[in-house]
Amino acid sequence: MEINHNNELLPSVNSLTNMDDYEQTYKDFNWEDVERHFTWYETGKCNMAYEAIDQHVEAGRGDKIALIYSDAKREESYTFRQLRDKSNQFGNVLRKQGIGKGDRVFIFMARSPELYICLLGILKIGAVVGPLFEAFMETAVKDRLVDSSAVALITTPQLLGRISKSETPDLKHIIVVGELENPDDSVISYHAEMEVASEELELEWLNRDDGLIIHYTSGSTGKPKGVYHVQNAMIQHYFSGKVVLDLRDDDVYWCTADPGWVTGTSYGIFAPWLHGVTNVIRGGRFSPQDWYSTIAKYKVTVWYSAPTAFRMLMGAGDEVISQYDLSSLRHVLSVGEPLNPEVVRWGYKTYGQRIHDTWWMTETGAQMICNYPGMGIKPGSMGRPLPGIEATIKDDKGNTVPPYTMGNLAIKAPWPSMMNRIWNNPDKYEEYFRVQGWYISGDSAYMDDEGYFWFQGRIDDVINSSGERIGPFEVESKLLEHPAVAEAGVIGKPDAIRGEIIKAFISLREGYVESPELKEDIYRFVKEGLSAHAAPREIEFKEKLPKTRSGKIMRRVLKAWELNLPTGDLSTIED
Ligand code: WT7
Repeated sequence: MEINHNNELLPSVNSLTNMDDYEQTYKDFNWEDVERHFTWYETGKCNMAYEAIDQHVEAGRGDKIALIYSDAKREESYTFRQLRDKSNQFGNVLRKQGIGKGDRVFIFMARSPELYICLLGILKIGAVVGPLFEAFMETAVKDRLVDSSAVALITTPQLLGRISKSETPDLKHIIVVGELENPDDSVISYHAEMEVASEELELEWLNRDDGLIIHYTSGSTGKPKGVYHVQNAMIQHYFSGKVVLDLRDDDVYWCTADPGWVTGTSYGIFAPWLHGVTNVIRGGRFSPQDWYSTIAKYKVTVWYSAPTAFRMLMGAGDEVISQYDLSSLRHVLSVGEPLNPEVVRWGYKTYGQRIHDTWWMTETGAQMICNYPGMGIKPGSMGRPLPGIEATIKDDKGNTVPPYTMGNLAIKAPWPSMMNRIWNNPDKYEEYFRVQGWYISGDSAYMDDEGYFWFQGRIDDVINSSGERIGPFEVESKLLEHPAVAEAGVIGKPDAIRGEIIKAFISLREGYVESPELKEDIYRFVKEGLSAHAAPREIEFKEKLPKTRSGKIMRRVLKAWELNLPTGDLSTIED
């Protein structure tokens, strides 16, 4: 395929290192040198929560602010010592219920200081944490709890109604953070238990291949898959925090992602705290005023966000920016979807900051291909592989292709933060490694002759809406539960702000006629059953949907209809 390559290079304004120095520094890079940073390199025993929190207290940094939390109602800060003590207490709360090493403990709640305390407490006793985004509805929550056989869940009174206890037989303990109107014995009160829990805890020391976290993410077929990561990932969280986030002692760091997504844990919790920096967490919804004032108020120096947010900020106009002092910013980064060149140029113009795009996935656990401080940025490129990471472009047979040729973005396996398994699904795991020795990402890209990678799209049907990965199958399955829906096919439709939106093509059952009310009802059905971000903002009714002879809906034909493109090879279509 012909590549229309853009050779623009933005000058390096806030250049921190020079690219040549950089290449020189990492010329003989090996991961073992990074491992030596950790005491477990000698002792063999590790624990992420210890590395992120306790070690800083032991090293005399206990009074440093670790967490600044704010939302419309609360504004609180916690030192490393306070987080150590509170997470110890929560670890004791869990142990009292008989929960321990390897158990899956899920957190289903909106951002709050308690979310972070609970997450650290879970890790301290060696349990595996499963964070769930607060917007998930009943089916989405149930699927994840059942698949992981979670034994405990921490939630809030507002979300308790979305947990179907009868359908989650392994779930033995529900811990509620917040006052219940009608307290009953079936749930445990976080506050009552914390009141009586000791601040002393014997930490569960782990091996580097013991469990850390499960993040559920979507593929093009099947239910969401549980991407399971182990303690070893901390090597890459730490290293990328250093070379990509450029974290320094006096930084005030803000990652805007929710811990329900991997960015909100790897870079909202682990990387910043492994470096002992002050971590800003802002709860509540996006608004330009609110976001800019968060930067101005706490004097954020390093800011990690996503293209949809930058596009919305750009859309809000430069007028708003002039009302806030953003001069504290030193380094700005983006992840999750393609970062449009015009957004990079806008960031440069308005904040005097080049937005550094970074590419990685839930499965990779940490950043893989990035723009580093100091390197020339080519707007539209994801950057170059991290030291220690080998990336290439492969054709469908697994052969490496020359520069400027589009193909499968592949990473040489393994690397420290590589997923350890797909929970309960070894076949899905194997699929990623179908080319011997390589991880096949599912993204298509090309490499230019300077080793920069350029994102081209997904190879599969996975949809990326506002940086959130949505599996069409999960949405289609929900749609089919609606009484009016006979068949459904779901695609991503290009959208200027969100990157893509969900569009559903639907054929109706006998006796139903299309109407705006029916569209609204179907939209609400998915929104209330799965989540708002999975609900189809656009619905088109069709007499019939294109299917293969084996009955599989041909999403690529739907996409071609939508984009007015040729439908391609239809040899397998039904009629
Ligand atoms: C997919 C992974 C781990 C970060 C949050 C998303 C897309 C990610 C970029 C980028 C273009 C990107 C890819 C990838 N993606 N970063 N810089 N440019 N696309 O994690 O939910 O696992 O999604 O997001 O398609 O495969 P995720």
